[in-house]
Amino acid sequence: MSEQQTTMLRPRERPGANGATAVAQPNIALIKYWGKRDERLFLPWTSSLSMTLDIFPTTTRVRLDAEATDDAVTFNGTPASGEERRRIAGFLDLVRRRAGLTHRAVVDTRNTVPTGAGLASSAGGFAALAVAAATAYGLDLDPTGLSRLARRGSGSATRSIFGGFAVWHAGTPTAPPAEADLSSYAEPIPAGDLDPALVIAVVNAGPKDVSSRAAMRRTVETSPLFEPWAASSRDDLTEMRQALLRADLDAVGEIAERNSLGMHATMLSARPAVRYLSPASVTVLDSVLQLRRDGVPAYATMDAGPNVKVLCRRTDAERVAGAVRAAATGGTVHIAGPGPGARLVDEDGR
Ligand code: DP6
Repeated sequence: MSEQQTTMLRPRERPGANGATAVAQPNIALIKYWGKRDERLFLPWTSSLSMTLDIFPTTTRVRLDAEATDDAVTFNGTPASGEERRRIAGFLDLVRRRAGLTHRAVVDTRNTVPTGAGLASSAGGFAALAVAAATAYGLDLDPTGLSRLARRGSGSATRSIFGGFAVWHAGTPTAPPAEADLSSYAEPIPAGDLDPALVIAVVNAGPKDVSSRAAMRRTVETSPLFEPWAASSRDDLTEMRQALLRADLDAVGEIAERNSLGMHATMLSARPAVRYLSPASVTVLDSVLQLRRDGVPAYATMDAGPNVKVLCRRTDAERVAGAVRAAATGGTVHIAGPGPGARLVDEDGR
């Protein structure tokens, strides 16, 4: 296990201080999570695998307020409302039930990733909230327990508890709810000597029309391609783990690209169809094909939005970023490497 993973939690604030601050980064799935078998418990149909990024941190502070009658939530200094607020308050209710406390909380979140644009803002967001809230309410959870808890906020957050590469186990499908809940968590996995980068082309940073939650529900309920994709995704995961162990970037990239395109095929065949790819996404996908024709190993993966993430060797990242930048006119391009898992920090975020 790397140092990144073992030093994940280094508490500087302890429960009893009535507050805690945590930082977490988003992750990008190379084997996708798409579809829940249990919406209440956030249990997925398939296991997934991701790389946590070293950019776009979310910092969340949770402070208990014994006097307050409701939770107060701010996003980048602005009070949260509607669905956003409801999701966070619902998550805090779960933490309170487990802690046997009724105190309301003041939650302050600072996010550096464009929200709701398929850049996994909820992954870093709920991983940071899980670590900060668990600590503030005095829950004594190990990283596996934190991963299970983060899952209840957003499925992809399960994996951001860990740094580097992580696999999220779908868990035991036939088990009763309590057992199924325990069986579904993420854990870090080795990735040989792979020295990867993800070049992220943000072609549109605005919020999407259909949330990933609604889109995956519609896909599971209506797409004739969902079951075949889920079956092939299970095989992709087995092959991906072997490719990572061999540090075989071409195999990792090929498997990730086909898994992602397959996921998009399930959405396109949902009724009505969900289409996240835009003309700009397709232009970037074409530039990735051209890079490969030019002998540069580069492979694309896309999530619930038009933005494209390109996996390549770290040594090729600048060249890949240049090609993608030329294709994604008007967009922005970021280079990410493997980053750390969720961790406690002091109030200043250090
Ligand atoms: C396409 O984790 O955002 O990014 O569990 O409903 O909050 P909820 O969904 P979310 O879905 C992410 C889906 C994905 C693929 C992935 O990250 O594995």
